[in-house]
Amino acid sequence: MVNKTVLITGSSGFIGFHLAKYLISKNFNIIGVDSINSYYSPKLKKKRLSILKIKKKFNFEKLNLNNKKKLEQLFIKYRPSIVIHLAGQPGVLYSFKNPKSYYTNNVKATKTLCNICKKYKIKKFIFGSSSSIYGDQKKYPITESFTPNPKNPYAKTKLQSEKLVKRIFKNSKISYLIFRFFTVYGPFGRPDMFIHKFLNKIKKKEPIKLHNHGLNFRDFTFVGDVVKIIHISIKKNINNKIFNICRSKPIITNSLVNMILKRFPGKFIKIIKTEFVKGEMLKTHGSNKFLKNNFGRLVFTDIKVGLNTTINSFKKNAC
Ligand SMILES: NC(=O)c1ccc[n+]([C@@H]2O[C@H](COP(=O)([O-])OP(=O)(O)OC[C@H]3O[C@@H](n4cnc5c(N)ncnc54)[C@H](O)[C@@H]3O)[C@@H](O)[C@H]2O)c1
Repeated sequence: MVNKTVLITGSSGFIGFHLAKYLISKNFNIIGVDSINSYYSPKLKKKRLSILKIKKKFNFEKLNLNNKKKLEQLFIKYRPSIVIHLAGQPGVLYSFKNPKSYYTNNVKATKTLCNICKKYKIKKFIFGSSSSIYGDQKKYPITESFTPNPKNPYAKTKLQSEKLVKRIFKNSKISYLIFRFFTVYGPFGRPDMFIHKFLNKIKKKEPIKLHNHGLNFRDFTFVGDVVKIIHISIKKNINNKIFNICRSKPIITNSLVNMILKRFPGKFIKIIKTEFVKGEMLKTHGSNKFLKNNFGRLVFTDIKVGLNTTINSFKKNAC
């Protein structure tokens, strides 16, 4: 019988929470690990956790991945066969302010985790990387074979983590997959990312800044699509590969703003257009051809549909 025990790191985070919820609905036993750090509201992380804790098939351990001893004990206790590594320090702009946190929580934590996975002979390791490793490119859409061009400490540590995953599992029986996510959004989204930042500003009646005059392009990808793809990847015999996960239909920030404002008729919100911000990418536009070739027919959620789901959830749950 297949061991259906999956360890998800970053399970109180945005993507980890959605993934845990989805895999529980598919009958997996989930071991969630998270340090619940205060990069953004721990209250929101605890709210996500409280939703998961109701489920019988969910066990949670509050733990920092850099605590090697406790992490090993967890592997001995639960014997996971699959590890999905989504814990990390995200955020582009904060990475200039506190680069050390990126080294500790991305590079060092990934190294500790991978070495333990190797020692306890798991079957599959899935790593959540980022489109930011590509930086700005001359040609679009960006395929997985483009040369990385990281522009900020966050992107650099994600690329370093990818290299660690490849190096540690090379010549081992453990198969790995690396997914490069492109701007993931959805219910219970991250308050440091544009959509939820904007929704919170509307709620607090505060002005919102649009970097680069609202002319940045982002390849927004709905979290529900991301977790479905990760689920397929657990079942499929695809090994040691890197895939973009993106809708491949970028949208300019100004259009996104108009779409959001339509859902708040009568609300006045002051918009301040600012200059380009150092370290931010001007455009993210990935190709999902390689993903579709390997994973079969994938349907990506239309931005209008995903945005409606996100805003409805924000209005209902106040986050
Ligand atoms: N959301 C996106 O659009 C996006 C895009 C590209 C890549 N990613 C990557 O996907 C992963 C998940 O992103 P997210 O949006 O869910 O972020 P998130 O910040 O919501 O979740 C990450 C979680 O990891 C936890 N964590 C951080 N350091 C830890 C450590 N040392 N030990 C244990 N737990 C730790 C945090 O407390 C947090 O709950 C991240 O690695 C991120 O870099 C996300």
